[in-house]
Amino acid sequence: MNIQKNISLKKYNTFRIDVRAKEFVEINSYKEIQSLISSGILNNKKFFILGGGSNILFTKDFDGIVVNINTKGKKLIKEDSEHIYLSVSAGEDWQDFVEYCLKNNYAGVENLSLIPGTVGAAPVQNIGAYGVELQDVFYELQAIEIKSGKKVKFSKDDCEFSYRNSIFKNKFKNKYIILSVIFKLNKHPKIKTEYGNIKQELKKSGIKNPGIKEISEAICNIRRNKLPDIEKIGCAGSFFKNPIVDEKIFLELKNKFPEIAAYKLPDSKYKLAAGWLIEECGFKGKTIGKAGIYKDQALVIVNRGDASASDIINVMKKVQQAVYEKFRVRLLPEVNVV
Ligand code: EPU
Repeated sequence: MNIQKNISLKKYNTFRIDVRAKEFVEINSYKEIQSLISSGILNNKKFFILGGGSNILFTKDFDGIVVNINTKGKKLIKEDSEHIYLSVSAGEDWQDFVEYCLKNNYAGVENLSLIPGTVGAAPVQNIGAYGVELQDVFYELQAIEIKSGKKVKFSKDDCEFSYRNSIFKNKFKNKYIILSVIFKLNKHPKIKTEYGNIKQELKKSGIKNPGIKEISEAICNIRRNKLPDIEKIGCAGSFFKNPIVDEKIFLELKNKFPEIAAYKLPDSKYKLAAGWLIEECGFKGKTIGKAGIYKDQALVIVNRGDASASDIINVMKKVQQAVYEKFRVRLLPEVNVV
């Protein structure tokens, strides 16, 4: 275990914000996690557990230790006639895992293609896209309690998943390090093409009976057309959550803004498309200081080149204020602001 001092975090966050960590340690094995925990370092100072850095905005130098989880490995746990149970180490890249599943014909994560980040971060955030959420393929996870060093299993219910949320962002924030996730994947795919324009995309390519590979390709095409390439443009995907409002508020908004984009939820609430609200306020493609809003997707705040965190925060506040003034709806960040 090599603890480095005064390290730039620029290459460890996809917003490419150049802040520094007082200390930084990369963890490559379970043994290293154990020795980090038994050293007691995490009990004495501020720490931050970092995966792919794709859903985070560092606003200042981090006056503590950043722990970068880089453990690798996949293991078949069990299988039956319907399912494959695959345990995947927390440091594995999410898209590498999706591609591994496609290659082996394990179905369930194809709609989650091309989401940046690591496997260990996926349940924290309950990542989701195109009609599928992490919780739909989640079986169990293994974590280590930081205080005691005890290994603990979390079932799906234990994780308290909800929209871009889990117990690890709330009650158990900074209490556990996720070691591995067990996925329950399908041997017989349940193809999901209902969301957004998946069907249109398939039609464009002349595909009538898609398998998981075709679904993944269609989603990669849609994402590449709408979302920035994080290798080229600093950003953290959707910056804001889609706000959820009561039916009464939705109906008032719909009356005033008949075009409003929204989805009805099972509990008679409505999820409003924040991208639509932001676009209506005229922000799409705008540059404000060294940051701005992506030209093809208004939910994404981008770094226009050496932006600082305050440039990003400035855009965030301007957007929040304009959306509130026009629609009386408060937008909350989906990205973790540290
Ligand atoms: N819309 C606009 N203008 C925009 C963007 C969107 O009018 O600039 C409208 C669209 O026309 C559509 C609706 O808003 O009617 C929804 O747009 P889209 O399907 O692109 O999805 P989203 O709600 O903007 C969510 C997730 C994405 C995920 C997509 C696809 C959140 C906060 N974002 O975006 O997740 O990829 O659905 O499932 O839930 C992420 O979390 O980083 C992320 C990219």
